[in-house]
Amino acid sequence: MHYRKRNFDFGVLMLSIFMLFACGQDTSLSLQAGSMSGAQLAEAKGCTACHTHTAESTIGPGWVLPWGEQRLFSDGTSMLVDEAYLRMSMLEPALKVVQGYENIMLPAELTETEMALLVAFIRELSSPQQEQVQ
Ligand code: HEC
Repeated sequence: MHYRKRNFDFGVLMLSIFMLFACGQDTSLSLQAGSMSGAQLAEAKGCTACHTHTAESTIGPGWVLPWGEQRLFSDGTSMLVDEAYLRMSMLEPALKVVQGYENIMLPAELTETEMALLVAFIRELSSPQQEQVQ
């Protein structure tokens, strides 16, 4: 009797260890799926067809932006470059067209997580340190 009971406990223990291991694997898998960098996301969403990660203009303005300064638009108005401005530029590009560029960007289809990642990425590229260097 004693022998049998111990055997059963051993089985439960092994099963618990196996389940812990399986759960651990699941977590690391989902972390990997969510760990796309801002640069990778910009590539995957097709943004890099028109935007560079430098101040260099191509079809669209380069993503090193004059952070905290006024941006001029073709309708003669201006806005401060901040996170709210970046969100607006991505969701409603036609609302404010940067001076010197065509109104050709389509509204970006992004989840809130993707939006936050791209805003953080462009903000990092536009950090005041890089502005001082220029
Ligand atoms: C077909 C080319 C094209 C694609 C693709 C494109 N953009 Fe643009 N984007 C532009 C142009 C041109 C402008 C400037 C005119 C304007 O303000 O709409 C612009 C402006 C912007 C601005 C404002 C920049 C500034 O200098 O003030 C942001 C931010 C931006 N785009 C983000 C994105 C993101 C994020 C994506 C991908 C999801 C993307 N764009 C995809 C062409 C594009």
